[in-house]
Amino acid sequence: MTHPGFTRHDDRLWVESLPLDEVAERYGTPCYVYSRAAIEARWNRYRTALGSDADICYAVKANGNLGLLNLLARHGAGFDIVSGGELERVLRAGGEAARVVFSGVGKGTDEIRRALRAGIRCFNVESAAELERIAGVAEAEGTPAPVALRVNPDVNPETHPYIATGLAQSKFGIALDEAEALYRQAADDPRLQVRGIACHIGSQLLSVAPLTEAAERLAALAGRLQEQGIVLDHVDAGGGLGVHYVDERPPSPAEHIEAVTAPLRDLGVAVLVEPGRAIVAEAGVLVTRIEYLKQNGGREFAIVDAGMNDYLRPALYDAAHTVESIAPTSAHCRPVDVVGPVCESADTFARDCPLPAAAGGLLAIRSAGAYGAVMASAYNARPRPPEVLVDGPRSHLIRRRETLDELMTGEASLPED
Ligand code: LLP
Repeated sequence: MTHPGFTRHDDRLWVESLPLDEVAERYGTPCYVYSRAAIEARWNRYRTALGSDADICYAVKANGNLGLLNLLARHGAGFDIVSGGELERVLRAGGEAARVVFSGVGKGTDEIRRALRAGIRCFNVESAAELERIAGVAEAEGTPAPVALRVNPDVNPETHPYIATGLAQSKFGIALDEAEALYRQAADDPRLQVRGIACHIGSQLLSVAPLTEAAERLAALAGRLQEQGIVLDHVDAGGGLGVHYVDERPPSPAEHIEAVTAPLRDLGVAVLVEPGRAIVAEAGVLVTRIEYLKQNGGREFAIVDAGMNDYLRPALYDAAHTVESIAPTSAHCRPVDVVGPVCESADTFARDCPLPAAAGGLLAIRSAGAYGAVMASAYNARPRPPEVLVDGPRSHLIRRRETLDELMTGEASLPED
C-alpha cells in the first residue's frame, strides 16, 4: 500500500512504501529523502483552493532540485525565481518561462536581460533604481519589460526576524506611499508594461491575519491605480505559509488562499501565490546515522554524520526540528543532544531529544524538504549530500552525493615561484 509521505508502522519510519532504513542502506548517509506523494498532495491542496483564474508560482529557493521542479512543472506549476541560476533551473526542468515571476532585491543586468529574452511573465521590482535598470535593458533589447512593483505593506508577520520581510525597516519592497508615483511613472514609460502588484511579508507564518492585512493594503492600492486607468493583470500575494516542525499548527493551504483572495475578490484581477516551504518542507527528511555516543559535563551527545553544512536551519535560526529514530534499537529512550561533526558549537540539531540512541542507529530530521539541500555547503570540506525522491515502492536518485573532485573543481594552486 502506498502512503502519502512519511508514516510510522511496524516500529519503523516509512517513506511511502519503503522502510527508510532500506533507503539509507542503498544511498548512504547523510541523505535527503523526499516523498513524491507528499509533494503532490500539498500541491493539489493549493490547486484545489485556488480557482482557475489564479496561479501558483512555486518559490524555487525552497528546493530547486531539477527532479522536483520537473515534477511540479508536469503539474502545470508557475515559478517564483530570485536569480538567473534559478531561471536556468526552471527552464532545464521543463518549466514555462511565461509562468515565471522574478523576485529579489538585487537583480543584475545580465539576469534581467536573460529573463527578458526568455519571455518571463513578470519582474517583481524592488526599487526605483531597479525599475530604471530594467527599463534600460528593455530599451536595449527592443522588448518592453513586464513589471509589478513589490510593495512593502509594513505589516508584522510575527515570525523569526531573519525571515520577516514586510516591515517598513526591511530591505525588501517599495514603501506603499511611494509606490503610487512610481506606478504612474512606469505606466507612462513605453519601455515598461505594468502587469501587477506584488508583495511577500515573511516566511513560516502561523497565522493568516497578517496575510489578510497585507492583501487589504494591496487591494486599496490596486483600487487607486485602477481609478487612474492603470490596468492590472494580477496581484501576487507572495508565499509564507508555515509548516509543522515540532508542535506548530499552521493554517491550511485553503485558509492561506482564502485569506489572500477575499480582500482582492472585487478587483477582477488574477491572484498569484508563491508558496515554497508549504509545498515541500514536510515532504522531506534528512536521514543521518549516529557515529558515536559521548558524555560531557553531564550531557549525552549523539554525534551524527550530518552537519550544519548539510542542514543549516538549526544553526542559523535556532530552528527546532523533530528528530526521530528510523528503526528499532535495543537502547532505552533517554534525552540526548544530537550534534554534527562540524567544528562549531552551533552544529546542533536538537537538545534533550528523547531517543533510543545507539551507535550506528539511523535518525530522521523531519520537515527538512524546504531550505535544506539548497542551503547546504561544503564547509569543513564535506561533500554535499545526495537527494532521493521516493515514489511508491521506487526510489530515484535526483542528485548524487558530491565527490571530493567536484568539491574542489575550479580551484588551483599558485604557479611555481
Ligand atoms: N516569495 C518571495 C519573494 C520570497 O522571498 C520567499 C521566501 C517566498 C516567496 C517563499 O516563502 P515560503 O512560502 O517558503 O515561506 N531560509 C529560510 C526562509 C527564507 C525565505 C525567504 N523568502 C528558512 O529556512 O526558514
